Amino acid sequence: MRIYAISDLHTDFRENRQALERIGATGHRDDVLIVAGDVADSETVLRETLELLAGRFREVFFVPGNHELWVRGEPRDSMEKFQSVLRICDQVGVRTSPARVGDAWIVPLFSWYDPSFDVNGEGAEDELEAWADRYFTRWPANLGRVDQAFLRMNGPHVRPYDAPVVTFSHFVPRPELVPSVKYLRFRGLPLVAGSLGIEEQIRVIQPRVHVFGHTHIPEDRVLDGVRYVQNHFSRGAGTPPGAPLKLVWTGVDDVFDPPMFC
Ligand SMILES: [Fe+2]
Ligand SMILES: [Fe+2]
Repeated sequence: MRIYAISDLHTDFRENRQALERIGATGHRDDVLIVAGDVADSETVLRETLELLAGRFREVFFVPGNHELWVRGEPRDSMEKFQSVLRICDQVGVRTSPARVGDAWIVPLFSWYDPSFDVNGEGAEDELEAWADRYFTRWPANLGRVDQAFLRMNGPHVRPYDAPVVTFSHFVPRPELVPSVKYLRFRGLPLVAGSLGIEEQIRVIQPRVHVFGHTHIPEDRVLDGVRYVQNHFSRGAGTPPGAPLKLVWTGVDDVFDPPMFC
């Protein structure tokens, strides 16, 4: 049993929807696919995309990203839409809670971002004027910190497991996984990239691999014994797309050679 990872399909965009044909079209009936958020803000497109993938893989796991929680012109809030997205996943047979498949557990971690993730104080607040989540998400008045609200939902799943674990979140778990702003076109990114609380949960679970998305910056490296992988798919964000699928787990004897950087 092999586990593949992808994120940020953004199939709201036609070119990504067309490219979806490349994702696991053949030969993956025994494999697992992790989809680490940002498929679409349209629930219709989300349903169609997940349904297609669920038909190609043995199991598909998913967590909502920020785009799934946009509520443009709707009376409901983003938390109500979150619950609706989980129901859609349930209806099309896509998992959003932990399950053991073969020799490994796959553990989805719900998350959001918080400015305190920017531990180096590099984020440019003025660049968030154009950040769409500011206009397209709406939260219940008594929710408190949004990232903490999602992390609390993971509570029952934050524990040791009796087999190797692959965890995944949409947002970034460690500041080291966001490049310095001097290399970024969007200098506000550290303020909306991740949450330190994701990494706290990862340290309890102790996975072999953690998959994430959101920044559309490819990643594959080992930090403190955990392999952190981002394999974003979207072709529309000004960064080159990753591979259609990235293999992140092949079995209990899986040995990972960290990529060489030069
Ligand atoms: Fe994205
Ligand atoms: Fe995102």
